[in-house]
Amino acid sequence: MTPRERITELRELLHNHNYNYYVLNAPQISDMDFDMLMRELQDLESAYPDMFDANSPTQRVGSDITKEFKQVAHRYPMLSLGNTYSKTEVAEFYERVKRALNEDFEICCEMKFDGTSISLTYIDGKLVQAVTRGDGEKGDDVTANVKTIRTIPLVLQGYDYPSEFEIRGEVLMPWSVFERLNRQREEEGEPLFANPRNAASGTLKLQDSSVVAKRGLDAYLYYMLGEQLPADGHYENLLIAKQWGIKISDVTRKCRSLEEIFQFIDEQAEARKTLPFATDGIVLKVNSLRQQKHLGYTAKSPRWAIAYKFPAERALTRLNSVSYQVGRTGVVTPVANLDAVQLSGTVVKRASLHNADIIEKLDLHIGDMVYVEKGGEIIPKITGVDTDCRILIGEKVNFITHCPECGTELVRNEGEAAHYCPNENECTPQIKGRIEHFVSREAMNIESLGPETIELMFNVGLIKSVADLYTLHSSDLMFLPRMGAKSAENAIAAIAASREVPFERVLFALGIHYVGATVAKRLARAFRNIDAIMNANLFDLISVDDIGERIAMSVLQFFASARNRELVEALRTAGLKFELDADELSGRTDKLKGLSIVISGVFNHHSRDEYKTMIEKHGGKNVGSVSKSTSFILAGENMGPSKLEKAQKMGVRLVSEDEFLSMLN
Ligand code: IVH
Repeated sequence: MTPRERITELRELLHNHNYNYYVLNAPQISDMDFDMLMRELQDLESAYPDMFDANSPTQRVGSDITKEFKQVAHRYPMLSLGNTYSKTEVAEFYERVKRALNEDFEICCEMKFDGTSISLTYIDGKLVQAVTRGDGEKGDDVTANVKTIRTIPLVLQGYDYPSEFEIRGEVLMPWSVFERLNRQREEEGEPLFANPRNAASGTLKLQDSSVVAKRGLDAYLYYMLGEQLPADGHYENLLIAKQWGIKISDVTRKCRSLEEIFQFIDEQAEARKTLPFATDGIVLKVNSLRQQKHLGYTAKSPRWAIAYKFPAERALTRLNSVSYQVGRTGVVTPVANLDAVQLSGTVVKRASLHNADIIEKLDLHIGDMVYVEKGGEIIPKITGVDTDCRILIGEKVNFITHCPECGTELVRNEGEAAHYCPNENECTPQIKGRIEHFVSREAMNIESLGPETIELMFNVGLIKSVADLYTLHSSDLMFLPRMGAKSAENAIAAIAASREVPFERVLFALGIHYVGATVAKRLARAFRNIDAIMNANLFDLISVDDIGERIAMSVLQFFASARNRELVEALRTAGLKFELDADELSGRTDKLKGLSIVISGVFNHHSRDEYKTMIEKHGGKNVGSVSKSTSFILAGENMGPSKLEKAQKMGVRLVSEDEFLSMLN
């Protein structure tokens, strides 16, 4: 392979790994391997400057590739637990412990929380560091994000805590928060989180801790480590930690026999169904730390603990048909229609089939008896077919080739699992979906127009696109079913009031794929008006913080369509805001004009995000990684060692927080 071919290969590889890491949150290689590939590409690119490509993974700006989190080695490795689904194996564990100890012992039984694990270090009663599990040996320093979790004390209560200790536990996203977040993501056309565990770990890895703060994470702590712990009992230590203000679960019980353990398991198997967060089993731990030490560890896990996992609840039922739903972005989702069946306390009649690959893998036929499961996921899914029940084989389920709504041939992009209908301008559910999105609370906030009213208005031909809303009169509406003169007037007033909605929300309301409320805000602030956005090229777009290629391409595609440009013009004529308000624009200076500034470390006076905004407001550009063109680094405390080294090597100046603030004043 020539070096030029290798460059092409590396670019493709790194793009894929980027996607696995950031979008899927499912990295397939270690951070180190990733960094090595990146370095190889950087070196090759500087040796072959004619191969320059503005879209190379090395050219990404913003937080997309910067591994902002400092890697920290765990003082005590973060091990996993031996797992079992069988009570017989729980009994075997109990007997093993009994034989090895040959003295009385207690087992502490606790819930197995289904979130993402975290290790907290407290020194002199203050939370100094929070690190993710990572590979068990080292993890990411996510202190800033963890500090936003309100149930984690930043300062301990009382005074009798050891001067230094670690406490480990689980960061969770409660069901209610998870459901709200996914609803919001759906509205914004962003990929949904499959379960609260992924949502919690994805949230902990966000670069912007002010976003984390709004996500409503919670945490339970369950394992204390240190040289001078208060008691010999694990359970007793947890109770003491509780007095320091640390959140410990009340569902923790010391058991003295196998019968007591089984009773706890059976009780919790029921009780977990009404908990506000996900659990997936019970953890059993030998209580005495002395005895734990005696039992020791295998290579991977402690011999003094085991996890009993609850079997995923599943039910067998009949597949009657498969229907296909078209969303506002055109994605076609297959849905299984089932004989109603009771599952985890609810009646299930429909289950998600996700995409064509899954249907193919299951080899589904109409009339099949299928297993439905509600794992960590909220939407039940089909996990298997009981082929023994196939007496008469029904028709094989083949993913449709044409849109069920408009008949257009479906498209499937290479490398993507989803099929979508490309007929965005005439496919009814896509048009209606866009109008619903436009009027939604976070967008134009024309709440009086619910989905039914929109459906009616659309069906009778009153509106064909969102621009038509602004030409309506109350006389057009008052004859619609369930709409009197008063509500028609209210609706018109709400439409008129939406002319005052700020630019960033108008931009969000346009329904550009991947442009959620936050991205819209970023774009509005960076470009200030719609014309600048419409005229931006790929590079302009990805130069904005948090805007990656995927979003940038989608914006370009949206405004490449004459129809969309016409829509903008029609809405502009209708009086909607297509530029930032004067007060948003004011307070801006050119003090940092032309400067590329990297932010690194932890700050005292403002959050990282506030500094980002300040840089933008004063004409500077916030970039993610240090390079020769970096003007300076706004350096807080605990700046990452690799950044520091790079800065020194490249001779990039460090500017302290105070220095930076006085530059602006
Ligand atoms: S104790 C050495 N207790 O389960 C033992 N872990 O497979 C350390 N987990 O990574 C773990 N609830 O994320 C412990 N009550 C609990 C737990 C728990 C959930 C998770 C934890 C760990 C995994 C072990």
